[in-house]
Amino acid sequence: MKSSAQKHQEIAKVIWNKPESHSYYRIGLACSTIYENARPGQFITLHLPGNLTPLLRRPFSIHRLIKENGHVCGLEILYKVVGEFTEKLTRAAAGDPIDLLGPIGQGFTVSSNFQKVALVGGGIGIAPLVFLADAISENSVCLSDSIACLGGRTSDDILCKTVFQSFDLTIRTTTDDGSEGEQGLVTRPLEKWITSNRPDMIYACGPMPMLRAVADIANKNELPCEISIETIMACGLGACLGCAVNKNETTEKYQHVCIDGPVFDAKTHIF
Ligand SMILES: Cc1cc2nc3c(=O)[nH]c(=O)nc-3n(C[C@H](O)[C@H](O)[C@H](O)COP(=O)(O)OP(=O)(O)OC[C@H]3O[C@@H](n4cnc5c(N)ncnc54)[C@H](O)[C@@H]3O)c2cc1C
Ligand code: FES
Repeated sequence: MKSSAQKHQEIAKVIWNKPESHSYYRIGLACSTIYENARPGQFITLHLPGNLTPLLRRPFSIHRLIKENGHVCGLEILYKVVGEFTEKLTRAAAGDPIDLLGPIGQGFTVSSNFQKVALVGGGIGIAPLVFLADAISENSVCLSDSIACLGGRTSDDILCKTVFQSFDLTIRTTTDDGSEGEQGLVTRPLEKWITSNRPDMIYACGPMPMLRAVADIANKNELPCEISIETIMACGLGACLGCAVNKNETTEKYQHVCIDGPVFDAKTHIF
């Protein structure tokens, strides 16, 4: 899980920026070759040059790498419009400069020993799971025995379904209002699936209550599980304590989501 990749600050150019659905956008940014070493689960922070507000950089997961002739030349961010920064970001056009810092943090463990996995994503938490599925496939693991459980409030929050279909894995969707897939929690299809499947790893990203429930299911069934936590962040560099989370060990009680995470072993954390 640990990655020692150096982070790098650069002024990246927008390649494209387009709406994905009602509240979500997708932006492509040209970036330096340092992202050849980026790991799924790692994130970047962005700032819009010339904008005094918001002052703080905003963190976003790497959704996908953009490659040309096999080499990384850009990265894709899938974002939900929730406030000032993301609203301003929707107005960025091709060629506009964006201050990009990354890759940051510890990503998911990808291993050829993990032949059967479960990907569990809630809402915008689905974003890093596409890069993860790309990396697993590139590691010569066929995902046909694996499952992606995608949950959201409504059908608008069920992201990247067609992308996951291209990986040939089982897909289960759930929504709170029943507008897409089964009505209810995204943990329900996961629980059902593990009654007859024993995954080598469960990967999860989404809101805290969902992560707690997934970690609980994994721990009760003694299954390995990694969760990616999205806290509110200030510095994104380990300097401000704004993102501290509890660690279930007396020796090292708190960890920073920005530098020790955002991906953690579900066994080592109390929520
Ligand atoms: C490691 C990490 C990865 C992330 N990856 C993505 C991603 O791939 N795509 C994406 O759209 N967003 C992602 N986020 C969340 C994203 O950083 C925030 O949505 C963004 O900073 C909001 O900025 P804003 O100025 O538009 O909204 P703000 O005005 O800052 O916030 C608007 C509202 O959203 C809430 N909010 C802000 N950040 C978070 C958060 N992290 N969790 C829960 N609520 C929050 C605020 O409390 C407020 O109510 C990630 C966050 C982290 C920490
Ligand atoms: S955001 Fe400042 S320490 Fe993590």
